[in-house]
Amino acid sequence: HPQKSVLGENSMLSLQDCRAKGGASGFKVAILGAAGGIGQPLAMLMKINPLVSVLHLYDVVNTPGVTADISHMDTSAVVRGFLGAQELENALTGMDLVIIPAGVPRKPGMTRDDLFNINAGIVKTLCEGIAKSCPNAVVNLISNPVNSTVPIAAEVFKKAGTYDPKKLLGVTMLDVVRANTFVAEVLGLDPQQVSVPVVGGHAGVTILPLLSQVKPSSSFTQEEIEYLTKRIQDGGTEVVQAKAGAGSATLSMAYAAVKFADACLRGLRGDAGVVECAFVSSQVTELPFFASKVRLGRGGAEEVYQLGPLNEYERAGLEKAKKELSESIQKGVSFISSK
Ligand code: NAD
Ligand code: LMR
Repeated sequence: HPQKSVLGENSMLSLQDCRAKGGASGFKVAILGAAGGIGQPLAMLMKINPLVSVLHLYDVVNTPGVTADISHMDTSAVVRGFLGAQELENALTGMDLVIIPAGVPRKPGMTRDDLFNINAGIVKTLCEGIAKSCPNAVVNLISNPVNSTVPIAAEVFKKAGTYDPKKLLGVTMLDVVRANTFVAEVLGLDPQQVSVPVVGGHAGVTILPLLSQVKPSSSFTQEEIEYLTKRIQDGGTEVVQAKAGAGSATLSMAYAAVKFADACLRGLRGDAGVVECAFVSSQVTELPFFASKVRLGRGGAEEVYQLGPLNEYERAGLEKAKKELSESIQKGVSFISSK
């Protein structure tokens, strides 16, 4: 029993778990990397999500403490902890949605690609576990560099014969969250009323905000466009520098991850019209993966939307984004195909 290793058989958590098994409806969600800077606040926010009935917290360290702590929150999701590789299978079995924030974060002076050497292997191992234990789950991949880790995950699933392109989603929601915030600041609006599509990928120039498509419909001076585009593209670096060696965005990322996971769960439930940006398998450009608006449904990303009309500035940005993206995607694919 998975709880044995966390709190022991006689804990209140086990009793609560036993009773909850009878009437629980809702989705089963696992977080891999649940004890980390993103993982902990993400676990807390998922525990209060009414669409979640079971929450599995997996990490290679510290899950007993995080699980004990979160399990005391008086919301209905049942929380179970799993520690170390030998418990990965139990953590994943039966899951509808797997969220992956496992891996090392940046320090000042690093690019996201500098994380490749460590995080590629972590993502590979975790995706092998998913292919084995919950091949039908929707996967939300947060670990950087997203532009390469999503292709890695796809290759792992292809090798295992379980790949469903609709169910693999790289999380770029933080770029959208930042774009909404910064654009709202410039326009003097409530950020909750602002919606900015951000397409391309999740690193530097591959992050391409489409300011010509902002809702509510708005116009910007060239100076505002350049300021906003750069601030959105450098948002991650702004946080890395401010944290000065203590990691990268964790709290805003947990918020963004929950916003995105909740959209995925509403899609799985069958809600109509759930549309968010994500980095997915795509035919929108000549690249095999690209972030754009997708419609989330029972099958995952059921529809990938075209970019819509771009202005000249955005078209130039798109060319730059595609060049870097193409290399990052290839690097991810080669990591698996060379094995
Ligand atoms: P962190 O170091 O605080 O936490 C990472 C956690 O992953 C740790 O608890 C660690 O033990 C765990 N871990 C390491 N190897 C593991 C394995 N094999 N299996 C399970 N868990 C494992 O880092 P963080 O700040 O939470 O960031 C995590 C990742 O998310 C980083 O790669 C970071 O760059 C990325 N990130 C992505 C976005 C995005 O928008 N997609 C935003 C912020 C951060
Ligand atoms: C972010 O955008 O905040 C994350 O990708 C973390 C980072 O390294 O910037």
